[in-house]
Amino acid sequence: YQNLYILSWFLCLQFYAPWCSFCKQLDPVWHQIGSELRSLGSPVNVGKADATSSTGQLTSTQTTGHMGPGLKKDLRYNYVGPRTKDGIMDFTNRVSGPSVRSLSSLQLFQHALSRHDTLFVYIGATSLLKGNYTAAAEELIVHTYFFSATRDVLPKIISVPSLPAVVVFKDGTYFTYSEEHDGELRSWINRERFSNFAKIDSFTLYAMGETGKLVVLVLVEAEHQSEQSLRYKRLVENVAAGNSDKYKSFYFGFMDEPDYIRGLTMSDVIVPSFIVVNLSNDGYFLPSVAVETEQQLLDFLNRVLDGSIQVSGGNGITQRVQRVVYETKAALSVSGPRQVTITVD
Ligand SMILES: *[C@@H]1O[C@H](CO)[C@@H](O)[C@H](O)[C@H]1NC(C)=O
Ligand SMILES: *[C@@H]1O[C@H](CO)[C@@H](O)[C@H](O)[C@H]1NC(C)=O
Repeated sequence: YQNLYILSWFLCLQFYAPWCSFCKQLDPVWHQIGSELRSLGSPVNVGKADATSSTGQLTSTQTTGHMGPGLKKDLRYNYVGPRTKDGIMDFTNRVSGPSVRSLSSLQLFQHALSRHDTLFVYIGATSLLKGNYTAAAEELIVHTYFFSATRDVLPKIISVPSLPAVVVFKDGTYFTYSEEHDGELRSWINRERFSNFAKIDSFTLYAMGETGKLVVLVLVEAEHQSEQSLRYKRLVENVAAGNSDKYKSFYFGFMDEPDYIRGLTMSDVIVPSFIVVNLSNDGYFLPSVAVETEQQLLDFLNRVLDGSIQVSGGNGITQRVQRVVYETKAALSVSGPRQVTITVD
């Protein structure tokens, strides 16, 4: 981990140029991250790349000025997450260490448990499963945390049927991977890395969609959530907690970026309200009657599952044309770089 660089890539939408306002907006954040990492003695340097330049090379260095030539791009981690200092720092710390971190004591385990909403732990000695676990960790480290431990390090109260085992800790409980029931380890990890009920931002929503599951969302106000919003959130949270087996094909959460959903549905959605989205095909389902009770919410989900509610949206040709128009308009008002990349020299 000699030289890690965090680069912000101003790419994706070609007409974003380095002089536009979001770059300036992000600059103070880069400076803060750079000086914080330095004071922590981190091996990570902060730099900036301008992908709009014709060579696609680093055109400016920032904060540390250590950006020498010979930048290799073998190991690269793309950060898709909120463009905040905390989000980027957390990501940086995660990917700049080993993909699987060893927990050598109960204290370390408890510390990890208190710090992360979701964490995976491999328990046992070296095995074939460990090989798969490490391979999955190397790929999925951009999303979540991976640890390994011996059985005696974990509290006795945690029961694992046999060793080696892979366990995920989340939502105040834990689940053990079973090859027979859960299939490939990597896919299981990719499905289980989300909490049962959590705040979902547009990046998380997109990542959830990639697993093929549907997402049940309450749309709420970004600030000053109304009584009704809080009630709707409790409704979904209860359903998520009480019915996890039957509704395994859903993720549950709430979202305070209604504009993102307006982009998806290309219509003016009400806040607060319920929506089920299928990110595999950009389709969505809205309840046809008011949902005010847990039973009504369950009825809505059952109707989505049995196909008795018509899917809206989707990625048919008409929708795709509409989307191009919609997104072109929206892109003009959107701000923020599209990717943050970490490169290992
Ligand atoms: C382990 O990895 C191999 C090779 O990718 C794969 O064929 C196998 O199904 C994996 N096993 C599990 C339990 O994930
Ligand atoms: C979600 O979209 C995928 C891809 O088009 C499709 O196969 C799946 O059936 C959809 N799920 C529902 C519940 O509509």
